[in-house]
Amino acid sequence: MKTPIRVAVTGAAGQIGYSLLFRIASGAMFGPDQPVILQLLEAPVEKALKALEGVAMELDDCAFPLLKGIIQTSQPEIGFKDANWCLLVGAKPRGPGMERADLLKDNGKIFIGQGQVIDAVAAADARIAVVGNPANTNCMIAASQAKRLPPERFTAMVRLDQNRAQTQLAKKAGVDLTTVKDLFIYGNHSPTMFPAFAHATINGRPVPAVITDTEWLQGRFCENVGKRGAAIIEARGASSAASAANALVDHVRSLVTPGAIHSVGVKSNNHYGFDANVWAGLPVRTTTPGSYEVITTYAMDDFAKSKLAATNQELVDERAFVADLIK
Ligand code: NAD
Ligand code: LMR
Repeated sequence: MKTPIRVAVTGAAGQIGYSLLFRIASGAMFGPDQPVILQLLEAPVEKALKALEGVAMELDDCAFPLLKGIIQTSQPEIGFKDANWCLLVGAKPRGPGMERADLLKDNGKIFIGQGQVIDAVAAADARIAVVGNPANTNCMIAASQAKRLPPERFTAMVRLDQNRAQTQLAKKAGVDLTTVKDLFIYGNHSPTMFPAFAHATINGRPVPAVITDTEWLQGRFCENVGKRGAAIIEARGASSAASAANALVDHVRSLVTPGAIHSVGVKSNNHYGFDANVWAGLPVRTTTPGSYEVITTYAMDDFAKSKLAATNQELVDERAFVADLIK
């Protein structure tokens, strides 16, 4: 039996938390032979902590063989102590009519404190995945507070967008979604994100050769993917939760699986012309468990370049908006 890994999850009593924790404890995220200890962190609010007790009771009642312990706390120093993975979900979701960037004022400061505590107390090999919105900039904020942990350990989730885009292309082409490959999300987890359809393939053929409706690819497709979160809020009255939890399972699973290629929000380091200090969705290849390299070889046409420029500008603007916070 492997040594258990410690997985800290913030916002553990929230909507995403409720779909996420049971998947982690079942082995879906780290594999069927990897025991886990869940370190569940909630806001210091009576109602949230009471709800967390209920969630922990349900986890107990599942009798998951891989679940070797549950810590419940509102103290980041306890929640992140020795954590190998820190899954930062806890943050306000947006409501109808809002953009995710509207959350920056409230949510941004959460990631200052958490970035500092993670850097101080998490395990030497700690990896951080940010889901709370706006995820890319919150990830940049958390990373900005770290002196010990290098920036590449901090990743933002754009996998939900990749999954959404994959399904949209499969439906349009009338094919099984497993035949859609090499589809990556560039830029911000916002309506400006760019699902780069030109490099994606369906049954090994370039997408534009299979779906010849360029107007749809450049227009409706990009818009459907970019605005899917708002469409769900409109329909459900609450932001996506089960699909977000599922995407986080995919995000981490791919990051611990050498050879996996997938979209991750990472420090751009100027790849694809992004500002060096923003966290942009980019194609990556996992090298060793928890580590990755950015795939830098895709050529961009003029349409793609204009989309990358727009999403980069939004990330730069978000960074400027929180400049005082990250000093
Ligand atoms: P929710 O309101 O149901 O749950 C959030 C939980 O976080 C609450 O229980 C709250 O008490 C807790 N929380 C707040 N501040 C905290 C703190 N400082 N420390 C620990 N816990 C804290 O919201 P949700 O539906 O679970 O969504 C969570 C976040 O994820 C939102 O910001 C949402 O917009 C975002 N989200 C991102 C994606 C993505 O693809 N990146 C997808 C869906 C949702
Ligand atoms: C999503 O994409 O579903 C989430 O980021 C929630 C939102 O605010 O859209």
